[in-house]
Amino acid sequence: MKPKVYIAKPVSQQVENYIAEHCDYKIWREKEDIPKEILYKEIQDVQGLMIPKAKVNEDFIKNAPQLKVVSHISVGYETLDTDLMEQNGIVGTHTPYVLDDTVADLIFGLILSSSRRLSQLDRYVKNGEWNKLDDPFFLSKDVHHATLGIIGMGRIGEQVAKRASLGFDMDVIYYNRSARPEAEEKYGLEKKELEQVLQESDFVLTMVPLTDETHHLIGKEELKLMKKDAILINASRGKVVNEQALIQALHDGEIGGAGLDVYETEPVEATNPLLQMENVVTTPHIGSATANAREAMAMKAAENLVAGVTGGKPENVVKELKH
Ligand code: DGY
Repeated sequence: MKPKVYIAKPVSQQVENYIAEHCDYKIWREKEDIPKEILYKEIQDVQGLMIPKAKVNEDFIKNAPQLKVVSHISVGYETLDTDLMEQNGIVGTHTPYVLDDTVADLIFGLILSSSRRLSQLDRYVKNGEWNKLDDPFFLSKDVHHATLGIIGMGRIGEQVAKRASLGFDMDVIYYNRSARPEAEEKYGLEKKELEQVLQESDFVLTMVPLTDETHHLIGKEELKLMKKDAILINASRGKVVNEQALIQALHDGEIGGAGLDVYETEPVEATNPLLQMENVVTTPHIGSATANAREAMAMKAAENLVAGVTGGKPENVVKELKH
């Protein structure tokens, strides 16, 4: 008998066929996120769940007595309580590698967009406000030869460093718990203390996973250390930056601007002051949103799921994040 699994998101025919070959499955086909009540009903008798993001806590586990694998269709997995899962014999998996280049591209989009004011300029040209361009605000900031500081030098950080160093002649400095000698050698990176990275960078990129340690890693004091015209880019998790402190720093001119793909609350609230600020460029958490990357993530998640419920070893088991 095939193992039973639930797929909590529509997937391509190819991914569905692959799962069908190995599992007895049901699937959520709506565009909207699956409501919690329906999810909890559907996981009562399955061994595997594939889902973009699951909040795995006591409540979730009570509703899934036979569950063996939670296969996340994302690289971040801060919503999984890895200790609790281990105690209950549940394996968590995620989808690293296949989205690294795609997220790095988006980050470069945010760097270019926030420094060269692309979204405002687009708006002005389309609104027939060409003459607004005389405003000194639009004498923007060069990206080439500037200093990029990357906080968190993982796989995605390295892809950003590569683009910055080889493509834009930027000086790249980074802060990370451990040194990355290979990347240093390849892209001329220099490891520094967090304070130095904040003080010396024209662009500061936060690229760390969300843990207790990185929650509000960038707050009032850290923002104060940054150059007055520096731009903060965040495409990792909103809670890595203290959003109130960021709003204040932007308001007070402590920093020059921000390019944000992630927020403390998502979807971002319409009343969030960041949305009214001319020197802030926003995107709606779409770092990995290209057709190719999303398909590759779904296929990888399907492979992890199938391996986990058929007695194999999933390739991408999550590691403990220090919560
Ligand atoms: C990820 O994969 O973690 C991206 O941020 C999308 O959630």
